[in-house]
Amino acid sequence: MTDVAVHVHRLGPGDAEAWASLRCELWPARPRADFLHEARVLATAEGHAGFVATLADRSAVGICEVALRAHAEGCTTSPVAFLEGWFVRADCRRLGVGRALLAAAITWARSRGCREFASDTALGDEPALLAHLALGFQEVARVVCLRLPI
Ligand SMILES: CC(C)(COP(=O)(O)OP(=O)(O)OC[C@H]1O[C@@H](n2cnc3c(N)ncnc32)[C@H](O)[C@@H]1OP(=O)(O)O)[C@@H](O)C(=O)NCCC(=O)NCCS
Repeated sequence: MTDVAVHVHRLGPGDAEAWASLRCELWPARPRADFLHEARVLATAEGHAGFVATLADRSAVGICEVALRAHAEGCTTSPVAFLEGWFVRADCRRLGVGRALLAAAITWARSRGCREFASDTALGDEPALLAHLALGFQEVARVVCLRLPI
């Protein structure tokens, strides 16, 4: 892996377009307007933050979202920071961008009193699991999600 110079900053009002573009790459089926709205909410939220990674040319290449939750599977402290979203543009992976985003999110979480950081991945998403493990996460459980229309 060759790390690149990456700068990570807290999502602000001026980042909505970049945030929405990267979200659209991750979830192309959802409307861009949802992500623009999400970015505006996140930019001023308490207990919830977004981070944007940019390269030297100022292009935004990755994002992550972290929230404070009361509880998380396998964790014993509360509140606990939870990695709600983590995405790096496909052509910029394995360069240290994801690591830099996570470091910024951890710093934010510590500043809010958290002592544990939790996350999840889809069953079978081996690359995402390996990235988490490489950055120090430990697997604590495998779950099945269910739905009942009422
Ligand atoms: C997961 C993701 C954000 C990682 O971003 P990234 O910029 O590639 O991560 P980094 O380059 O900082 O790598 C961090 C560590 O994870 C490891 N890693 C990353 N991707 C990996 C993979 N596919 N297989 C094995 N290890 C991997 C790296 O080797 C590195 O460890 P090292 O420093 O010991 O070498 C990125 O792959 C991505 O956007 N994936 C699609 C979306 C996704 O799956 N998000 C997570 C959902 S929970």
